[in-house]
Amino acid sequence: MKAKIGLFGFGAVGQGFYEILNSMNGTAPGHVARICVRDRYKTRPLSPENFIFEPAEILNDPEITHIIEVIDRPEDAFIIVKKALELGKTVISANKAMLARRLPDLLKIQQQHGGKLLYEASACGSIPIFQNLEHYYAHGEISAVEGVFNGSTNYILTRMDMDGLDFDEALGLAQQLGFAESDPSLDIDGHDPASKLVLIAAHAFGQWVEPAQVVTFGIRNIRRADLEFAKANGQKIRLLASARKSATGALQLLVLPTLVGPDSSFYALENEYNGILIQSKFIENQLLTGKGAGSLPTGFAVLSDLAGSVKNGSSRNNRPLQLQRKTPHFFETLRVYCRCPDAGLLRQLPFEKILRKEAGESGFQAEAEIAAVNLAPVIVALRQNGGFLAGMASSPAHAQIQSNVSLVSAPV
Ligand code: HSE
Repeated sequence: MKAKIGLFGFGAVGQGFYEILNSMNGTAPGHVARICVRDRYKTRPLSPENFIFEPAEILNDPEITHIIEVIDRPEDAFIIVKKALELGKTVISANKAMLARRLPDLLKIQQQHGGKLLYEASACGSIPIFQNLEHYYAHGEISAVEGVFNGSTNYILTRMDMDGLDFDEALGLAQQLGFAESDPSLDIDGHDPASKLVLIAAHAFGQWVEPAQVVTFGIRNIRRADLEFAKANGQKIRLLASARKSATGALQLLVLPTLVGPDSSFYALENEYNGILIQSKFIENQLLTGKGAGSLPTGFAVLSDLAGSVKNGSSRNNRPLQLQRKTPHFFETLRVYCRCPDAGLLRQLPFEKILRKEAGESGFQAEAEIAAVNLAPVIVALRQNGGFLAGMASSPAHAQIQSNVSLVSAPV
């Protein structure tokens, strides 16, 4: 049976999905019956008679069994998804900002009304992270999940580093290529990867943390001096999201620019590529990589949910996610690089130790140790003062992968 689809939104992801579906001819798992958009006057690649503007025309159509929600506004998305689940429809959403705030509510509605909610496209574009966590890692005993979860910022960092572009030029390109959010501060301030981290941590650990509780610092304040500092050490800067479990089961969630060297799993990730490193008991480290943003890679993740749901009916998503609400606990001590415009401010920041400090044109550059529990106030102070902070020590997992590789490739 083929799905009759109601599509909400026709931006980069909606168009990518539509293009892929239409390229499949007879093998497509469904067809788009209606497309609902908000703005009547926007120029679109399809003629105006293809669009409707009233969500009820889709939601109240009993023949439309599958809803694809790829709109921008989280609150509008929640209303559509909630209503569709209450009507028992299958809903495929790419809306990480909405899901990171409302997933527990939606899971309850899903259980009460028998609808089905799938959201592979909401995190890391083409990487099938939820399918992996849900099925392959169901008994995985995961201890950490870490990676590059935002394509736009990885693209910006790559272009600044490789082509010497300035931040605004690189951001402009990320917008033109359809990688950035319509409000790009979600990307550059790290809120987008923080939303994805909340969702990935929910599946990896069964714990629910509010996105506002993720300690988050983006790359808005990055300066040439920071990239040069990294380069001088043979490193690159990547925006890493991490969720780590302590020995006592506490969860630490951070989004932080991080200096990575050639021994890191994330060093080779360029442009809009994302990477997710999963550490677990039996298989130690596994790295999944792929395009994390863009119309077709993300549209394909939507298609994959659709195809799986049509093929498997209600058996897809058959292990209902059980979530325990948790307050994160910041238990590590981190080595960090800090650029601070003002010597007085640098002295006041609650570092455990300052290991090295140098004055330069863009302020003081320091290497320091900080308890993760003190990161939040440091980030607030640096954000307000045009400073920058990046994690320094690569986690033992990165070195571990390197040593596994050399063992495998060593001549016997
Ligand atoms: N703005 C997001 C990113 C889109 O750059 O990763 C994909 O989620």
